[in-house]
Amino acid sequence: MWLSEANKTEERVTSMANIILAIESSCDDTSAAICADGKILSNVIASQAIHEAYGGVVPELASRAHMQNLLPTVNAALKKAETELGKPLSFTDLNAVAFTQSPGLIGSLMVGCSYAKSLALTLNIPLIGVHHMQAHVLANLLSDPAPEFPFLCLTVSGGHTQIVLCHSPLNMEILGETIDDAAGEAFDKTAKLIGLPYPGGPLIDKYAQSGTPKFALAEPQIPELNFSFSGFKTSVMYFLQKQNKENPNFIGENLNDICASIQHHIINILMKKLVKAVKQTCIKNVCLAGGVSANSGLRNAFKAAGEKHRFNTFIPEFQYCTDNAGMIAITAYHQFLAEKFENLSVSPSARAEWGK
Ligand code: KG4
Ligand code: ZN
Repeated sequence: MWLSEANKTEERVTSMANIILAIESSCDDTSAAICADGKILSNVIASQAIHEAYGGVVPELASRAHMQNLLPTVNAALKKAETELGKPLSFTDLNAVAFTQSPGLIGSLMVGCSYAKSLALTLNIPLIGVHHMQAHVLANLLSDPAPEFPFLCLTVSGGHTQIVLCHSPLNMEILGETIDDAAGEAFDKTAKLIGLPYPGGPLIDKYAQSGTPKFALAEPQIPELNFSFSGFKTSVMYFLQKQNKENPNFIGENLNDICASIQHHIINILMKKLVKAVKQTCIKNVCLAGGVSANSGLRNAFKAAGEKHRFNTFIPEFQYCTDNAGMIAITAYHQFLAEKFENLSVSPSARAEWGK
């Protein structure tokens, strides 16, 4: 639906106060969402299959795919929101446009940022830059019931592993994080070692469901609430090398048990620190976030820990776990209420200080 057509629309959506279009393009998923008064009306995600052939995300290909996917994704999000509302909805009904400003692949971020800036300029509406990791945390506000503040959140994605204390929508602090690889990377890199294609996390999850975690692997001892996964990956590599020497068919014959063992140890590392954070802070509302929160073993271990240690558990719906614009939209909604806007000279940042 283009601007000229929009002007012809007679019935406008004037009763809605805050209609925000949000764009997520930080890595290899192009996503657009429409949020009205904090309610997500649509959340459309176009994944980029092209990277599978390369065993990981190729930044240049990701930027190009975002350029191809962005307009159709935004149009699909508007159409879906229109159906959800049961009223015509067009660009001129938007009250703000939001985009992922940081962190992420710089070329990918630039596509979403440039698009959002041009739309904000054309429509003369506020521009909202969102921090991707804060958005992963706030994806939990889309759950019903949503967690009450303050809450703790274990964010586990392909690029980050953090324990966050969330005081209010726009006030959060990192209590601990990985000092090297992220949990998602640990899944993907160990999956690669056993010959699984990228992204290996969901495949390890799948095979682990038919396996037993019978292989002991090294777990790092890291102080405080921080994590480390790089040594774990190396220990899996040495373990496989040793076993393959004795039996060249070791991986093929033990795939399910190897996956179950890798998954069991990654979950153990994560859950030990999360329970420690709950004990230290005495906070009773605890959330998961990020792509790895789609892992069935982690979800079960998280719920079991909640029952054992008496804390309330919250996990976003699957569509809000992996990268999505719905989480950008809900974060932008709170920034809109706080009038936290960007000017048109804003640029994206591959790395950004928390809260910047
Ligand atoms: O949050 P996300 O979509 O993107 C980043 O911001 O990084 O997370 C992607 C990560 C990948 O490492 C992927 O392997 C992992 O989430 N992942 C999983 C599962 N689904 C996605 N890891 C384990 N089990 C899953 N079911
Ligand atoms: Zn993410």
